[in-house]
Amino acid sequence: MMSILEKIDAHLNNHRMESWEGTFRDYLPLVMENPSLAQRSHSRIYNMVKSAGVRVDDDEKEHYAFFEEELFGIDDPLARVVEYFKAAAMGSDVGRRILLLYGPPSSGKSQLVILLKRRLEEYSRTPEGAIYAMTECPQQGDPLLLLPHALRQEFQQETGIFVEGDLCPQCALNLREKYNGDIYAVPVRRLFFSEKERVGIGTFVPSDPKSQDIAELVGSIDLSAIGDYGSESDPRAYRFDGELNVANRGLMEFIEMLKADERFLYVLLTLAQEKNIKTGRFPLIYADECVISHTNETEFNEFMADKKSEALHDRMITIRVPYNLKVSQEIRIYEKLLRQMSLQDIHIAPHALRVAAIFSVLSRLEAPQINGLTLVKKMKLYDGEDVEGFRQKDVKMIQEQTEREGMDGISPRFIINRISASLIKADTTSVTPIDVLRAIKEGIDNQGQFKHAERERYNDLIADARREYDEIARNDVQKAFFVSFDQEALTLLDNYLDNVEAYLDQAKLTDPITGEEIPADEKLMRSIEEKIQVPDYGKDSFRNEIFRKVAMAHRHGDKFDYTTHEKLKSAIEKQLFEERRDTIKLTITSRSPDTEQLRKLNQVIDNLVEHQGYNTESANELLKYVSSLLAREK
Ligand SMILES: Nc1ncnc2c1ncn2[C@@H]1O[C@H](COP(=O)(O)OP(=O)(O)OP(=O)(O)O)[C@@H](O)[C@H]1O
Ligand SMILES: [Mg+2]
Repeated sequence: MMSILEKIDAHLNNHRMESWEGTFRDYLPLVMENPSLAQRSHSRIYNMVKSAGVRVDDDEKEHYAFFEEELFGIDDPLARVVEYFKAAAMGSDVGRRILLLYGPPSSGKSQLVILLKRRLEEYSRTPEGAIYAMTECPQQGDPLLLLPHALRQEFQQETGIFVEGDLCPQCALNLREKYNGDIYAVPVRRLFFSEKERVGIGTFVPSDPKSQDIAELVGSIDLSAIGDYGSESDPRAYRFDGELNVANRGLMEFIEMLKADERFLYVLLTLAQEKNIKTGRFPLIYADECVISHTNETEFNEFMADKKSEALHDRMITIRVPYNLKVSQEIRIYEKLLRQMSLQDIHIAPHALRVAAIFSVLSRLEAPQINGLTLVKKMKLYDGEDVEGFRQKDVKMIQEQTEREGMDGISPRFIINRISASLIKADTTSVTPIDVLRAIKEGIDNQGQFKHAERERYNDLIADARREYDEIARNDVQKAFFVSFDQEALTLLDNYLDNVEAYLDQAKLTDPITGEEIPADEKLMRSIEEKIQVPDYGKDSFRNEIFRKVAMAHRHGDKFDYTTHEKLKSAIEKQLFEERRDTIKLTITSRSPDTEQLRKLNQVIDNLVEHQGYNTESANELLKYVSSLLAREK
């Protein structure tokens, strides 16, 4: 294994090796050989995203690996963002519009732009993402801008590379005075994007709209240099250091765009539309960069309602970025955010993040409009689980009935703050699902941000999340009661399948011990089937379906085990639990357990620790909790 020091050395070496300096004469053959060096900003970003891999799902939706480890559960808006880059890369007019993301707080908008910026820095260090610039250009201009207009068409025919735009004033002056018009002599270097060094990646944050200087965007006159050069319009007396100059060839992030003064927006539009940075000082400063901005929904709506800014509206591509609506993905968001905190000594009990995710996803869902569909069922469906009465194929129709789902509700940030709050408590070494729900409830009740009606709704949803947890907790304990749950489930499944086979063939089974012929055990089959509400009149079709699935798995060389079929799995589990219910209940609710019961309890705790991710403390908590649940049952 390479030590981290060696890795850093190798990294630095690599970068040194990759740097390149030469003249425009040296650069020309490079770019003719490899036209991707000359691709423009949108195209470079699109290729970067695409090169990480694209998966197309059954609904022909595209999923990009580029985002996979960072952004969870918002594939639709992400696909739209990529579409924008794709259209722009292909030269469509879309590239001449500004991308504006809007959505509720903490929905991942900033994270998305940060990801693009960081990866673009790395990409410019790879062969595929390599990019070159005129060494002396204050805004790292494209060397091909040196090509005289008269030759550009022929150059395109020869190489396929389309060149547009003009040298910046500084480069034009250099070419004239320093190189006497000899374009070949102009120095060129490989460029490495770096936000920190202000190369190719810019960020703009509006401050006070009245006093903020437009120079922050477009650069400014260097008053001290005017004396040296005698004129204000000498480019040497100008600092090309606005964020738009900085972001030339790359990416510009415009934070809270709609908070900015209109003057700033118009400069942006000229840039997008005409690819020019407007300064008043120089007529044309060509720039090629991609502008991504973001804002919250309130400001977005105000902006869209404002007639004065109509001209701006259709020069933007707006993409709504709602919250994630899948519980499993929400858990990943929390895991990611918690990783950024140092929690080595704290045990987060199983399902603690899940209950928080259940609550926050519920808070974001719109009430279903269909008979029989509850909010909780909808939540499960969205996360890929089939529920009583509904299947995955219904999801699309359900979503079509929503208006602004995911635009309201609890943010991941809120949840993480609440989890941290429960971690901070002095003596905490582990956090259970109930701790988390309690911390969330405290936050809802005590923080002024929620209105009365909202608080009530959220409290109901906390109760829903808790009921879900009750089910999960009970399940964990029941499983832990078996020495080998999977083995026993498998045995029961085999038994069920043998009986189904005999039933369907109208054959008899052979008793393994006595060798006698016995009829299929209808009572056992029905007992299992009733656990998942298979009605008596529906038993034949259910048994046929199961048998078909078994045959199919067999034909494909797969094993059909009890986890293959969601519903059957749940039936088998319930059947097993029912058979043991009384022992389980007696054992854990007993106030003075006998030796045998104590032995069993210890075994259950061991099982929970060994197989289900608990530690001794959280396993004990779980048993206490489930025992109080069972004691309440009649
Ligand atoms: N869908 C998601 N996938 C992964 N992380 C997410 C997701 N949504 C939010 N986050 C995380 O939550 C935190 C807040 O998100 P971010 O800062 O990107 O929100 P935002 O949309 O820019 O909000 P604001 O409007 O408040 O600026 C970030 O750490 C981000 O990584
Ligand atoms: Mg943000």
